[in-house]
Amino acid sequence: MSVIRTAILGYGRSGSTLHAGPIEKNKSFHVTAVCDVDATARQKAVARFGCRPYDDYRRMLKEEPLDLVVIVTRSDQHCQMTCDCLAGGVNVLVTKPWAVNAGEAQRMVSTAKSSGKLLLPWLPARWGSDLQRLRQLVVEEQAIGTVFLVRRVEGSFATRNDWQTERRYGGGYLLNWGPHIVDPPIQLLGSPVKSVYGRLKQTINPGDVEDLFMGILTLANGILVQVEYTVSTESPPTWFLQGTRGTIVVHGTQLKMNARTPAQPSDPTQYSTMQAVPDKMLEEKLAGSLYGDEHQIYKEIAAALCGETRYPVTPASALELSRVLDAIRTSSNENRVVMM
Ligand SMILES: NC(=O)c1ccc[n+]([C@@H]2O[C@H](COP(=O)([O-])OP(=O)(O)OC[C@H]3O[C@@H](n4cnc5c(N)ncnc54)[C@H](O)[C@@H]3O)[C@@H](O)[C@H]2O)c1
Repeated sequence: MSVIRTAILGYGRSGSTLHAGPIEKNKSFHVTAVCDVDATARQKAVARFGCRPYDDYRRMLKEEPLDLVVIVTRSDQHCQMTCDCLAGGVNVLVTKPWAVNAGEAQRMVSTAKSSGKLLLPWLPARWGSDLQRLRQLVVEEQAIGTVFLVRRVEGSFATRNDWQTERRYGGGYLLNWGPHIVDPPIQLLGSPVKSVYGRLKQTINPGDVEDLFMGILTLANGILVQVEYTVSTESPPTWFLQGTRGTIVVHGTQLKMNARTPAQPSDPTQYSTMQAVPDKMLEEKLAGSLYGDEHQIYKEIAAALCGETRYPVTPASALELSRVLDAIRTSSNENRVVMM
């Protein structure tokens, strides 16, 4: 494939920036078409790329020879559009949340298999500087010993008033933020989720969906993971990791580690609090974006489409994430722990 003939389907806030930006800069891609139901969006894309505009993606699939469709429409539209593009013989990159539930996700995975085309889920937090650094410290260096509890939290006090506040459009903070919050600790700890307790709440946003969620996940290896999107004027740590030899706390791009060796009492009858021996203190600023470098991600997308490397986000792992997000919702709706 000398050049990747690309269509952007959904040229809105994210399509016109987060995706069009790196595609425009990368010589491997050529934007030959854009599809949006909004005439102004189409005009902007044509002015920028000189591409052919469509208001109907099915017609675009019939008329355009394409190698890749980048789907950045509303979340409720992703599954059908993805399946139609794959069945039409085109590779698909689909933004997060790639599906509104695991049933949809499974349908997309099956359609990709039968079509023989590539299905590339967009999960940029997997390239995040926080996850990369934590992987080095926690997994490679075992710097805080055996991890037993990880908290991953985001929050704000901002409200929104768009389709993201409506269930029928696939809105709600579990789908919108879950891929950024729930997925990274699972990737970091590398163990399947075995049970899920979840709570959803609507607090300050309009609409009919949650703007706050919490989940407590127990992994197969016994590690507890607390995930949360919260509504707050103050910022809790974005990561809080506890291990048998210390603690790591992350506030955005600020990471602090306090590693200690627990004291071992030599006299078993001694009944006093033993102070741990300080081991290593670390304070650093994380280099790079918390949601990865979209230019780097698009380089990897191009390499995967050209058959040079495998795209690191497998559909199977994105399907697993959809199952966990479903379980948080089911747990909240049915007030029970969901076994996976
Ligand atoms: N960090 C991230 O990865 C990130 C950031 C923002 C948004 N997103 C995701 O991107 C998706 C879009 O979000 P957004 O904020 O850009 O929304 P948006 O509403 O700004 O854009 C959606 C676009 O799709 C168009 N559209 C609607 N129906 C269509 C149809 N039938 N055919 C063609 N075009 C159609 C709309 O006109 C609009 O231009 C969401 O799923 C969201 O979760 C991801």
